[in-house]
Amino acid sequence: MPELHHQLIVELGDRSYPILIGAGLLGSQDLTGYVAGSKVMIVTNNTVAPLYLERARACFPGKQVDTVVLPDGEQYKDWQTLNRIFDGLLERTHTRNTTLVALGGGVVGDMTGFAAACYQRGVPFIQIPTTLLSQVDSSVGGKTGINHPLGKNMIGAFYQPQVVLIDTDTLTTLPPREVAAGLAEVIKYGLIREPAFLDWLEASMDRLTALEPAAVAEAVYRSCACKADVVAQDERESGLRATLNLGHTFGHAIETFAGYGQWLHGEAVGTGMILAADLSVREGMIDRTDYERVVRLIRAAGLPERPPETMTPADFRRLMAVDKKNVDGRLRLVLLRSLGEATVTDTASDAHLTSTLDAFCGQRPA
Ligand code: NAD
Ligand code: GLY
Repeated sequence: MPELHHQLIVELGDRSYPILIGAGLLGSQDLTGYVAGSKVMIVTNNTVAPLYLERARACFPGKQVDTVVLPDGEQYKDWQTLNRIFDGLLERTHTRNTTLVALGGGVVGDMTGFAAACYQRGVPFIQIPTTLLSQVDSSVGGKTGINHPLGKNMIGAFYQPQVVLIDTDTLTTLPPREVAAGLAEVIKYGLIREPAFLDWLEASMDRLTALEPAAVAEAVYRSCACKADVVAQDERESGLRATLNLGHTFGHAIETFAGYGQWLHGEAVGTGMILAADLSVREGMIDRTDYERVVRLIRAAGLPERPPETMTPADFRRLMAVDKKNVDGRLRLVLLRSLGEATVTDTASDAHLTSTLDAFCGQRPA
């Protein structure tokens, strides 16, 4: 019987839920205790299904387990594909006491969670994340939704799962580019509130990119602990939770500009954190030595350091204008007060923002 290495709780009163973390949990962990009715609908995609669907089914002995297999890709995180989940549920006459199960990365997780929030005005759901990014970030905290052609994650709901089951063994089949994308969100936690974790990441990045099990388990646990703590304090993002968006305002602009699926979310966040760090220097918050530390870490993770070559400062400004953090038309950005402390501000100097965008857009240095 595989070991349950860690259990964390996301403390949200009567909506609290556990995060179960371990190697080999998928298929061996009985999740029926989190299922109220007799039916389960597993939502996954055509990449993950051949790898893990059978093991996921085994988590629900005695239940009727139906499946919806979606096409794979960020470009399918849209209304049409979401509707396929509702089609599947209605075709199989799933009622209000069904439980949806998201098996896959953040795309499947966000869409399944949103489907659960909407179907018959809300049914329970379970997260089984299988990418590093979804294990350290998107499966925890209840942000669900889909993209709009004009902006990332623009349509959605806060809706918490019943349980998150993280089997770190599933990461062994993940392509290296996806591992790097997940590491961007791991680095984010160190930068915004965990200086000791940042030191550990600098010392451990080689082990993480090589997916050494002990290092991965540690990174997943510490990231989930950080996220669970932030979500418990500020579920609806009225303050603290917005710091989890370090690099995301620039990053979402990159993702939308490039076309969904061209730049991975984590890649865009990695580059976005470099831009945020550069602006933090210009705002007098951190110094160039700190900035270089951020760049070195992003580079060591194997992430891109600059936006797409054809992207202009005007593109950034146009796309950042629809960021969800903005209030009354004012751009709000997450910046670094120090390495290990983030702040959300709408008073960054526009001239400094121009300097950052000019420094990163256009011609590459020779
Ligand atoms: P993804 O879901 O597209 O998964 C990446 C790729 O890996 C896909 O091709 C997928 O099929 C494949 N895959 C998944 N598990 C695999 C495995 N074990 N082995 C091999 N291949 C596997 O991308 P992602 O990085 O997991 O998630 C990105 C999405 O998450 C974005 O849409 C982003 O907006 C969202 N997100 C949401 C939150 C949140 O709080 N809800 C936070 C961060 C990101
Ligand atoms: N990924 C940012 C959040 O969950 O708030």
